[in-house]
Amino acid sequence: MSAQNIFGLDIGSFSTKMVQLTPGNNPSLVAAGSIPTPVKALFSESDQDIEELADALKKLHQEVRISTPYVAAALPESQIFTRVVEMPPLTDAEVASAIKWEAEQYVPVPLSEVRLDWQILSRPLTEDKNSKMEVLLVAAPIVLIDKYLKVFKLAEFKPVALETETTAVVRSLVNEEQTPLTTMVVSIGATTTDICISHEGNLTFTRSIATGGTAFTRAIAQDLGFETDQAEEYKKTYGLDANQLEGKVMQSIKPVFDVAVNEIRRALAYYSNKKPDDSVKRIILCGGTAKLPGLVVYLANALGIEVQIGNPWEKINVPEKIKDKLNEEGSSYSVSVGLAMRNI
Ligand SMILES: Nc1ncnc2c1ncn2[C@@H]1O[C@H](COP(=O)(O)OP(=O)(O)OP(=O)(O)O)[C@@H](O)[C@H]1O
Ligand SMILES: [Mg+2]
Repeated sequence: MSAQNIFGLDIGSFSTKMVQLTPGNNPSLVAAGSIPTPVKALFSESDQDIEELADALKKLHQEVRISTPYVAAALPESQIFTRVVEMPPLTDAEVASAIKWEAEQYVPVPLSEVRLDWQILSRPLTEDKNSKMEVLLVAAPIVLIDKYLKVFKLAEFKPVALETETTAVVRSLVNEEQTPLTTMVVSIGATTTDICISHEGNLTFTRSIATGGTAFTRAIAQDLGFETDQAEEYKKTYGLDANQLEGKVMQSIKPVFDVAVNEIRRALAYYSNKKPDDSVKRIILCGGTAKLPGLVVYLANALGIEVQIGNPWEKINVPEKIKDKLNEEGSSYSVSVGLAMRNI
């Protein structure tokens, strides 16, 4: 399967992104682009909305000149169940049967309604009988997978992979060979904030919460009596900067964002409890809302940890003339670049 041309597809609630890279170890950008996601898209049950989404995808695929129908797509973290579970050391075949019992404990819907998948994250290095292996358990609703497959069929795409958003962002943003630090990635989109922790290149924690840029805009619109468009502009211009407009915009965003900050705190505490001899050394932000003015400083002050904005293009050869533009929009492409990097 090496060197097959694929493209990465991230259908967000706000925007849809596509990226194609050359296969191999030193990838170059072939094509990238985004469109606003049609309003109902994957949240709708109606055939008409699904067709509208498929048409929009097909058009984007043509317009940005992606040269392959083979697609790797991300399942939204908020609509699937993922969990890192510990198991006694087992063979791959044993995991296959044991995983169902684990899933019965952790997956809050009947197992007949989900497709189970798993990935062995780490095996103990010692022969100690008490040592555990870590397995990432993923349960995706069958109706959701079917919807994706239906859209691909209509758009004439050929699916090669469906993976979770956090798996994709860790691939594009966390370069463990260079910096083997335990890293948290916080992906703030329009409607969800996904938090994950990567240790030595492996996911060890994931959590998705239902807040993001749209909620910030709504809070500004309500507090300051603005229309949505105006509130969106104010959000992008002033963000969490306390020195602008007497801090009014910041005051609106803060209580909404603090829900996410508290969730991040809990994740950090959970990790230090589980691994007392390790701790999260840095936070990488991505998603469109990572560009919010003042966000990096606000988070770094609130948590006392190094915070940076992820740049998924860092390891990719990008033509000089579009470099600036891509870097500017970088953080929102993290999922799609990670998907496109699957075959590297
Ligand atoms: N410069 C900016 N400053 C602040 N927010 C921004 C900026 N640019 C974009 N955003 C916000 O980013 C969000 C869109 O980001 P993104 O494209 O990552 O979302 P999405 O992937 O469609 O959403 P989700 O993953 O939640 O379904 C919107 O809420 C938008 O207002
Ligand atoms: Mg997203």
